[in-house]
Amino acid sequence: MSSPTMSSPTMSSPTMSKPLLTVSDIHTYYGDSYVLQGVSLTLHKGQIAAILGRNGMGKTTLIRSVAGLTPPRTGDIVYRDISLRGKPPYAIAQAGIAIVPQGRRIFRSLSVRENLMLPTSVLARSSRASNGRQTGQRWDFDEVLKEFPQLAERIDHPGGSLSGGEQQMLSIGRALMANPEMILMDEPSEGLSPRLVLQAQEIMRRLRARGHAILLVEQNLELALSVADEVYVLSSGRFVFHGTPAELAKATQVLDQHLGVSGAKMI
Ligand SMILES: Nc1ncnc2c1ncn2[C@@H]1O[C@H](COP(=O)(O)OP(=O)(O)OP(=O)(O)O)[C@@H](O)[C@H]1O
Ligand SMILES: [Mg+2]
Repeated sequence: MSSPTMSSPTMSSPTMSKPLLTVSDIHTYYGDSYVLQGVSLTLHKGQIAAILGRNGMGKTTLIRSVAGLTPPRTGDIVYRDISLRGKPPYAIAQAGIAIVPQGRRIFRSLSVRENLMLPTSVLARSSRASNGRQTGQRWDFDEVLKEFPQLAERIDHPGGSLSGGEQQMLSIGRALMANPEMILMDEPSEGLSPRLVLQAQEIMRRLRARGHAILLVEQNLELALSVADEVYVLSSGRFVFHGTPAELAKATQVLDQHLGVSGAKMI
């Protein structure tokens, strides 16, 4: 954390308030394989933090750690003043954190409607699913279809018949059906055409405008820099950069060494 590139973002604004999510020095393993080696971050309501890094650096493992799918062995994750330590994934989902997993993970043989209804069948009976949240977002089936009219047109089609872009919308729509406050998005632009990447960018901006916080894992640097309020760069399980998109755009050594982008390309 003493590297000169580990500056704190210089922007002011909502970052001065108490964070919604605080990840403190987490260490996460798969068996003996030591992946996250002391990762800390904060995320505020209505903000987007992007996690960048090359393949295999631990980005998905960070998402899985927060979601409770691969809990950290040490360190703590606090969401709205409550420690998530030892909490199973469903309890973390009920607390208000939804996941849009890498590769979408929609159910190919279930219809679009059935895919969308899955979280509600798991979570909706719990009034805790949305209690006490002070955000503007209130998602339900109709709201989700209003946001994604293309899904409405395909509502009774099997998920597997959708295009890549539609499957990504379905994955995001399914996450929204849990009415989350925070969304963990793992490479939502993966495999999308440039036009659909722009659409993903618009969706993220709209979600932020509705008060959602997004922890966004991306390999599309341009997309991440265009939507994120803060950027972290992960390398071999540790952050090697934390700053604003503008600061990262100038950090040529980080871009070159950890993201494989030449400085000239960013100008
Ligand atoms: N279930 C698992 N069991 C053992 N090792 C794993 C498992 N999942 C991931 N790993 C290893 O942990 C490391 C980090 O993987 P992770 O999936 O978090 O990387 P990533 O940054 O998301 O990569 P990508 O950009 O390819 O999605 C890699 O070395 C990977 O091989
Ligand atoms: Mg990954």
